Amino acid sequence: MEKIIKLENIYPDLSKARSRGSKAIKYLNNLFELTSAQKKLGLKKTFFVRTYGCQANERDSETIKGILTAMGFVQSNDWKKANLVILNTCAIRQNAEDKAFGMLGALKALKRKNKDLVFGLCGCMPQQEKTIKEVGHFFKEINFIFGTHNIYELPAILENVYKYKKQVIRVYSHEGDVIENLPDYRENKHKALVNIMYGCDHFCSYCIVPYTRGTIRSRDSLAIIKEVLTLKKLGYKDITLLGQNVNSYGIDLGGKYRFVNLLEDVAKTGIKRIRFATSNPWNFDEEIIDVMAKYPNLMAYIHLPIQSGSEAILKKMNRGMKINTYLSLIKKIRKQIKNCTISTDLIVGFPNESDKDFKQTIKLYKKVKFDNAYTFIYSPRIGTPAASVVDKIDLKTKQKRLTKLNELVRKYSKWNNNKYIGKTLEVLVDGKSKTDTNTLTGYSHNWKVINFTGNAKPGDFVKVKITGSSLFSLNGKQVK
Ligand code: SAH
Ligand code: SF4
Ligand code: F3S
Repeated sequence: MEKIIKLENIYPDLSKARSRGSKAIKYLNNLFELTSAQKKLGLKKTFFVRTYGCQANERDSETIKGILTAMGFVQSNDWKKANLVILNTCAIRQNAEDKAFGMLGALKALKRKNKDLVFGLCGCMPQQEKTIKEVGHFFKEINFIFGTHNIYELPAILENVYKYKKQVIRVYSHEGDVIENLPDYRENKHKALVNIMYGCDHFCSYCIVPYTRGTIRSRDSLAIIKEVLTLKKLGYKDITLLGQNVNSYGIDLGGKYRFVNLLEDVAKTGIKRIRFATSNPWNFDEEIIDVMAKYPNLMAYIHLPIQSGSEAILKKMNRGMKINTYLSLIKKIRKQIKNCTISTDLIVGFPNESDKDFKQTIKLYKKVKFDNAYTFIYSPRIGTPAASVVDKIDLKTKQKRLTKLNELVRKYSKWNNNKYIGKTLEVLVDGKSKTDTNTLTGYSHNWKVINFTGNAKPGDFVKVKITGSSLFSLNGKQVK
């Protein structure tokens, strides 16, 4: 019988996460192997994974589900009935953390009734020391906590929890590695997320991600292409290439083969639809636009987070972006890619953002007329430089700014959507609409959500005539 490795607790350290470059990145292809005991640990047990945050977490949750399935666990769709519950958390803003804390409270209450319930926390929240203090000591019931770099250790963590009945905390605060060939599990049968790189080295002054996700590590391009080809063979129609900033792809590998090269090679696989997220404007390579214009399977959709229309604020944010450069980028995209949907992220109420600064954000928005924007009130993140600035702007002012900005977001979303009324668009069908089961929902080549009547199945491509528009979607009828 294989011996169970007893795991020591390892706690996070933000200062270690900040000091970079001391350790070479390892590319590990054969790290993951289950012992025969681990393969049986989950038999007769069900699991539930709740995911908060961005697509990086969504993809990690798929890996976690893959590991649990390989261990014999079966997925449950009801957290109240599952034997094992894992919360994959996000630390980007306080409200993301609050949601996870709320759920932890509910799990704690459930455990009083059901002593056998095992639950744990992973993702970006536990990469911060403060979370361990808030969670580990406060909620004694929590069985395990692991960080974004420790996912591969999950089988050993669960063995220690189930066999030794101990609370396990495993959070590395290092640069991270590239770990390939972890078990795969994909929830969706026609859309897939494909990681191309991990981590971020940009350290925008407000952002916790470089601390929670480690340094930039690009995957080997051949491994990426192989994954896309496998997905194509399995019938996948739409893939999203994922990275905190896809434009930095390859920099850590010498920089000869860049994101634009990868994008072209992925386009050549012939998979039907390809998009990418996130693409930061400050190092957006203009050749990407040429490649997007050349290959019809590259979706006409770009998410380009600007964060603020004020150059003074952008400087304080450490974004390194000039508004005019951004505007000329938008101009080039609009000129070369027909009907390209452009969206952005905006933060209001960055410390000491003046009325004048905010007006510049409004001005920029009116100028670009974005199809959509994700808007946020600045949330201080302990350990980031912006969080130590004394902020003279009160929350009420920030909320008013957000309301005003959101009015514009709605106005221009509708204004952009109206342009499609009367046109016929090709739609990749997601399935039945969540709010109306007589309606189908899907999205166009330029990432417009379309609710329509028809008889198509998930994963089908159909032509839909657009008959009307709502705030954030289009309505239509399938044409035979
Ligand atoms: N890597 C991506 C962003 C990932 S985080 C990029 O650089 O574009 C997603 C968005 O969350 C950011 O674009 C930003 O708008 C927002 N965000 C990040 N930190 C924040 C904070 N401390 N407060 C409020 N919003 C924040
Ligand atoms: Fe955060 Fe900036 Fe990195 Fe995006 S680029 S993840 S906003 S530090
Ligand atoms: Fe949140 Fe971590 Fe993503 S902080 S936004 S889940 S990288």
